[in-house]
Amino acid sequence: MLRLTVQGTVRAPGDKSISHRALIFAAMADGPSRIRGILPSADVHATAAALRAMGVDLPALSDDFVVRGRGLAALHSPEGALDCGNSGTTTRLLAGLIAGLAGREARFEGDASLSRRPMRRVTGPLGQMGARIVFEGPPGHDGLPMRVQGAPLTAIRYVNRHASAQVKGALLLAGLAAGVEVTVEEPVRSRDHSERMLRARGVALECTDSGVTLAAAQRVLPADVSVPADPSSATFFACLAALADEGALRLEDVCCNPTRTGAFDVLRRMGAHVRVEDDRDVGGERLGTLIVRPSRLVGTEIGGDEIPRCIDELPMLACLASRAEGVTVIRDAQELRVKESDRIRAVVDNLRALGVEAEERPDGMRVVGSLRPLTGHVVTHGDHRLAMAFGVLGALPGNQLTIDDPGCVAVSYPAFWRDLTAATSQGAAVAVSGSQHAPLVIAIDGPAASGKSSTAQWVAKTLDVRHVDSGAFYRALAFLAVESGEPPEYWTAESLLARASRISWRLTERSVLPLVDGRDQDELLRGSAVTRTVSRVAAMPAVREWVNGQVRAAGAAVDVVVDGRDIGTAVFPAAQLKVFLVADTWERARRRLVQRLGRRPTDAEIAEEAEALVARDAQDATQSAPARDAITIDTTTVTQAEQVERIVALARAARERLRR
Ligand code: S3P
Repeated sequence: MLRLTVQGTVRAPGDKSISHRALIFAAMADGPSRIRGILPSADVHATAAALRAMGVDLPALSDDFVVRGRGLAALHSPEGALDCGNSGTTTRLLAGLIAGLAGREARFEGDASLSRRPMRRVTGPLGQMGARIVFEGPPGHDGLPMRVQGAPLTAIRYVNRHASAQVKGALLLAGLAAGVEVTVEEPVRSRDHSERMLRARGVALECTDSGVTLAAAQRVLPADVSVPADPSSATFFACLAALADEGALRLEDVCCNPTRTGAFDVLRRMGAHVRVEDDRDVGGERLGTLIVRPSRLVGTEIGGDEIPRCIDELPMLACLASRAEGVTVIRDAQELRVKESDRIRAVVDNLRALGVEAEERPDGMRVVGSLRPLTGHVVTHGDHRLAMAFGVLGALPGNQLTIDDPGCVAVSYPAFWRDLTAATSQGAAVAVSGSQHAPLVIAIDGPAASGKSSTAQWVAKTLDVRHVDSGAFYRALAFLAVESGEPPEYWTAESLLARASRISWRLTERSVLPLVDGRDQDELLRGSAVTRTVSRVAAMPAVREWVNGQVRAAGAAVDVVVDGRDIGTAVFPAAQLKVFLVADTWERARRRLVQRLGRRPTDAEIAEEAEALVARDAQDATQSAPARDAITIDTTTVTQAEQVERIVALARAARERLRR
């Protein structure tokens, strides 16, 4: 029988809640704030981009950087809409901030999941204070898109029926921005990072067991912050260690703020060995190193006041319960229904699809533990915590799971798959992950026929890292559609993505290879039927999102050179090196024909091909803008060997920076 040994140290990435707040408070202060160890994930990037759009001088997120805040007066209305992506925290906290800035306004947009989430919980009290909020979606829908107009607000004493740190944070931000007193009362104290961080920035707050009061007319001072490891992310590894057969995992620098440690209490109650070492205070937060060892686990009840302290960890705890002895019941957790997905339904449906006895309840679920091997396909609904929770189950010997969208972990833990592989690779001396530093990503973009794919392959080979051809994923979807016999005119993103679960990928020595039904079909993917139809597939935004997710997951697992459209912008905004290849149209046409015909093309042939490329460029206009921090290389008069040499030199420098 296979046994799972875990060993080594995992430093989960920076806490998400603290990372958002570190950026926002630094932007409000007048003066420099240094931020170390921020979580460089998609959600936090959304907050950073929104603040930049409001005029904040905010450099690219890195492990150590300085935000030069210029105070509230310097914040202006963003020109375009604020794209909050998948992030509820970005939306709700910034809605509070804008509401308190008289004369400023912003339109908030998000992805499909975020647009479904309720916003009335923040817009209600903000409206009572005097802000004007307009929902721009279908009638009766209190979600995104919405427009928030700041106004001279009045003080509020708000009694929230539910514990919510986002609501509390939004109201405190509105009060700070407008200079008015704010009291928020809650039935149970929600996570209190805002309170702790504001105190450290000179803001006077009165905290009681039932709430917090912010006095009127207060300024936020600049302050440095070191972001501790996220306990919600660390929980995946705590559960992995508890479920293993032997070994132990050390989880370093974990934020042990008591409003966040409910999952560790539940784990202990289920019989897990969780020991905290090196317990200390850093910048107003409690930190510790957790040592978690395997043990026999038993079912438990999770409910009441404990729920807000483990709300984000419940999907993982439910998965853990499926391997414990006896029954686990989760109650009082109806809030789970309005997270990134309906996490009650999604967790129960997936557990059942894998063969677990589980029952959905209005406010939670009932899960019956067993040791039967779990097999099947997990539908994440793009929810990062589902992908990771089931990812942990999938790492247990005997279980065979496929996950539809592994790339969605980028929302909170971009290097999750790499850390999971490291922690479970038996025999590794130390599985140190240092997840703050995502693997090296070199992004190569450029217009059609700029030679990006062959250059990327060559660069990858020279650097001895893997090449990801994002086009191959589009080809795989096109191949399945061609195979289905459905005429291309009828293809929709929905019909194409319905087959996406048949596509997976595997790391080969040289590349990240897409597989169809578990097999390498490279030759078929390059066939003429696929070549003729693939651009139709790649033009669909939902399909692009899916491919981007696959590519992100690969880039989160290992060092990669990736080429394709939007790679340096939408897919890897934090890539350590971005290159944008350009060449004049004539030269691109000539290269393309040489490749296609295998001989020197005539001038007439080149002219015809050049015309086609101009048309293609016009079609691609929205996708081919280089990232702002991309290095553009004009390859018109440069040989490919010279291009490769230049990119390799830049990449080596980037790799050095990453290691330092
Ligand atoms: C968060 C608060 C919680 C949590 C979310 C992050 C925050 O949501 O679930 O992931 O950073 O304030 P609620 O405020 O809805 O409880």
